[in-house]
Amino acid sequence: MSIVPIGGPTNADRPIGVFDSGVGGLSVLNALRSELPCEHFVYFADTDHAPYGERSDAYVTQRSLEVTRYLLEAHRIKALVVACNTATAAAIHRLRADHPSLPLIGVEPALKPAVAISRTGRIAVIATRVTLESRKFEALHASLAGQAHFSIVPCDGLAGAIERSDAAQIAALCERYLGAAGRFGTEPGQIDTLVLGCTHYPFIADALRRCTGDTVRFIDTGAPVAQQTRRLLAAGHRLNDEGSDGSVTLVCSGAPESLDAAGARWLDRPFRCATRASALVPTSA
Ligand code: DGL
Repeated sequence: MSIVPIGGPTNADRPIGVFDSGVGGLSVLNALRSELPCEHFVYFADTDHAPYGERSDAYVTQRSLEVTRYLLEAHRIKALVVACNTATAAAIHRLRADHPSLPLIGVEPALKPAVAISRTGRIAVIATRVTLESRKFEALHASLAGQAHFSIVPCDGLAGAIERSDAAQIAALCERYLGAAGRFGTEPGQIDTLVLGCTHYPFIADALRRCTGDTVRFIDTGAPVAQQTRRLLAAGHRLNDEGSDGSVTLVCSGAPESLDAAGARWLDRPFRCATRASALVPTSA
C-alpha cells in the first residue's frame, strides 16, 4: 500500500510561533526576521495578562502553557520562541517536558557575553522580579561567581509603563532603577555594561541612555536567539531558507489596536494586522 501525502504545508513551510506577555518580544521578532527572512512568524502578545513580571510563577507557567497550546492548535507552529525572559525563567522546563518534539528557544539575561566585554568588571542587570528571583537566574549568576561584580535591579512597573507607552513613567523609573544600580562609566569602579534582561527594554534604549551616558555598552539577546533558532531549525530539517519573503502575523489576547500601534512603531518590516484570540485562550489564572 502506498501512502498518499495529504495537502497542507510541509514542516518547513509552517510558521514559527513567538510569544511574550506583550509588545517586548517584538524586539526579538525584529532579530528573527533579519536572520530568517523566508520564515513565516505568528507573534502572540498576551496583552490581556501583561505584564508577567510581578505575577506568580504558577500564573506565568499557566499562561505560557495556554499560549503554546493555542499556537500549536490554531497555527500549527513548527517551533516556538519564548521571547520573554520572565516566561522562560518560570516555564521553559515545563514547556519542554510537555512538548518534547517541539523545537523551543528561550531567552535569558546575557550575563556571559557581558562578562566577556566588560573592562571594569562591573555590570548592571535589569529585568523583572520573576526573572531575577528565579532559580534559573540564580544558577546562571552563581556560575559566574568571581568573574565580575553584578548590580542586579528588579524593575517593577517598567514593562507595564512600556506597554502603555507612558514616557513620563518610563523616564522616572529608569532614573530610579539605574540610580540604584550604581555609577555608570568606563573608569575603574564604574559600571560599563548594562544587561537588558527583559525583551521590552531595547525599546527604551534612549531613556536608559540618558541615565547611563554614551560610553556604557547595552546587551540584549535578540541576535543570539535568532541564530540559535536558525541552528535548531536546520538540525531538525525545518528551516525555510529559500523562495519568497516570509511574513509576520500578529495575534493577541487584548485589544488588537494597541498591538498594531506597537507593530507600526517598532517592527522593522510589514506585518498582518492583529486579531484577538481571546476565545481560544481563556483568561484563567
Ligand atoms: N518582556 C518580558 C521579559 O522579557 C516580560 C515583561 C513583563 O511582562 O513583565 O521578561
